[in-house]
Amino acid sequence: MSESPRSPQWWRQAAIYQVYLRSFADGDGDGIGDLAGVRSRLSYLADLGVDAIWFTPWYPSPMDDGGYDVADFRDIEPTFGTLADAEQVLAEARALGLKVIIDIVPNHCSDTHRWFSAALEAGPGSPERERFWFRDGRGPDGAEPPNNWRSRFGGSAWTRVVEPDGSPGQWYLHLYSSRQPDLNWESQEVRAEFEDILRFWFDRGVDGFRIDVADGLVKDPALPDVEPGDETPFSDQEGVHEIYRAWRRIARSYPAERLLVGEMWLPDLRRSARYLREDEMHAAFNFDFLVCPWDVARFREVIDRTLESHDEVGAPPSWVLSNHDVTRPVTRYGRSGDTGFSFADRLHGTPVDRELGTRRARAAALLAMALPGGVYLYQGEELGLWEIEDIPGELRQDPVWERSDHADPGRDGCRVPMPWSGAAPPFGFSPDNAEKEPWLPQPAEWASHTASAQAADPGSVLSLYRSGLRLRKQAQGELRWLDQPPGVLAFRRGTFACLLNFSAEPVALPEHREVLLTSAPLADGQLPTDTAAWLRLPA
Ligand code: GLC
Repeated sequence: MSESPRSPQWWRQAAIYQVYLRSFADGDGDGIGDLAGVRSRLSYLADLGVDAIWFTPWYPSPMDDGGYDVADFRDIEPTFGTLADAEQVLAEARALGLKVIIDIVPNHCSDTHRWFSAALEAGPGSPERERFWFRDGRGPDGAEPPNNWRSRFGGSAWTRVVEPDGSPGQWYLHLYSSRQPDLNWESQEVRAEFEDILRFWFDRGVDGFRIDVADGLVKDPALPDVEPGDETPFSDQEGVHEIYRAWRRIARSYPAERLLVGEMWLPDLRRSARYLREDEMHAAFNFDFLVCPWDVARFREVIDRTLESHDEVGAPPSWVLSNHDVTRPVTRYGRSGDTGFSFADRLHGTPVDRELGTRRARAAALLAMALPGGVYLYQGEELGLWEIEDIPGELRQDPVWERSDHADPGRDGCRVPMPWSGAAPPFGFSPDNAEKEPWLPQPAEWASHTASAQAADPGSVLSLYRSGLRLRKQAQGELRWLDQPPGVLAFRRGTFACLLNFSAEPVALPEHREVLLTSAPLADGQLPTDTAAWLRLPA
C-alpha cells in the first residue's frame, strides 16, 4: 500500500461508533436528538473506548428519509444546531482523542434542494434538468414512467412533475423516496460540486466520509427496463470507480489522510472489494457478515471470503453487526427459524427469544471485535437494545412504511431514542423539563437497559463492550484458524485467541495462559453454547 507516510492509518483497526443524531441525545427538549446532546455525551463515547464517531447526515433536511434527503450539503439542520455547534463538536471530540466521520449522500438530494427547485422551474431540456434524470414518459401522452425501475422504498422509481405552465410534464428518477431525486453523475457540474463539498468539510476538520449508496451514482444512460431483482443498470456500474479515484486524491491532499468508507450492498464481496483498490476508498461495510444467519459454517465462510477478497486489494475488512437500516441483532439472533437479515423480508413479528438473542449478540460482538480490521458499532448496540416492533402505525416515520402500503414496517424499530438514565421515558434522552416526548416512543422495559443502569453492572452488555473495546487492541496480526470440535469457530492472532461455541454442548477450552474475556460465564471451565471467549495462548 502506498499510503502517504504522514498517514497513521488509524482506520485499519479502528472501532467506529455510529451516531444516529435524531435518536442519540436531545439537548434542547424538543424530543429530537441534536448536537448539544452529542456534546453532553462525548465523554461517554470516549469512556466506551471507541476511536471514532460517524454521524448520520446532519445537513438541513425536510427529514423525509431521516436526513438522507439533503437540502444543503454545506450547513447543519437547524433542529440539530448550527455550523458553529458542529465545529465545536469536532473540536471537543478531537480533544478527547476521537476522530469524526460524517455521512455524504451523493446519489440524490432533497426535492427542496435549490438545484431541484431550479430544475422544476427551468423546464424540459434545460441545463438545470441535466443535473437530475428527467425523461419524457412512455405511452401516447407520456403518462407512463420512462422505464420499469422500482424505488427501493416501494413503488415506481419515477414521479411525474407539473411543468411551469401547469401541464403534466416529464418524469424524474428516484431510487429512494419521491422526495429524493437522483443526481446525474454524467454532469460535470455535479462532480465538481461534490468535490467542493468534500473540501468544505475536510477544511473544517472532519476525518472522513461515510459514502451513502456508493455503488449507485452511475446509471446506464440508456435506462433500460430490468427484470425484477436485477439492479445492474443502476448499481455497480464500472464508471463509478473514477469518482472515488478523484475523491481519494482529495482525501490524500490533506495532512493526515482522511478516510473514505463506502456503503455498498452488493451481492458479491469481490465486487465491493474492487472499491477498495489502493487509489479508491479505504474501507467498506461488510454486510455479508451482518446478514449472516447464526450458523458456524456460514460465519466461517463469510470470514474467509472477506479476508481473501480484502487481501487481494490490500484493504482492511470492516465488521458490522448493526446500523440504522437493519433489525437489531438481539432480535435477529433471537428469532425462531431464520436468524439472518434481508431487506426483502424483515421477518417482522416472528417470535423472538430475547434472552437467547442477547446471549448470541454478546458472543457476536466479541467475534466482530476480535477479527482483523475495523469494527462499526451502532448506537444502542452496546446497551443490548432490541428492535421495537410495536410502534403504532401513525407514529412510524420511515417512508418505507407508506411507500410499501404498510407491507413493510420500515426501519423505525432500530431508531428509537437512546435510554441514558432514569426509570421512565424519556430515560435521560431529553432533559427533565422537556416540552416534547421523544420522536419515537421508548418502551418502559428499557429502564433496566439505560447506560447508567448498565455502567455499574459488570455483567451488563455495556461492560462487555467496554472491556472488549479495550482488550481488542491485544489482537494483532493475521488470523489463523484453530482446530476445534464441530460447531466451534476458533482462531488465533498471535497469542490472542477467540472462540465461539455455536454447538448445543459446552466445549473444553484449548490450553491457555489466561481467559481475557467471555461473553457469558464459563461452566466448570467449559465454554457454553452461544458463548465467545478471548484467551491468551501460550507463546
Ligand atoms: C442508505 C442509508 C439509508 C437511506 C438510503 C437512501 O442506504 O443508510 O438510511 O435511506 O441510503 O439515502
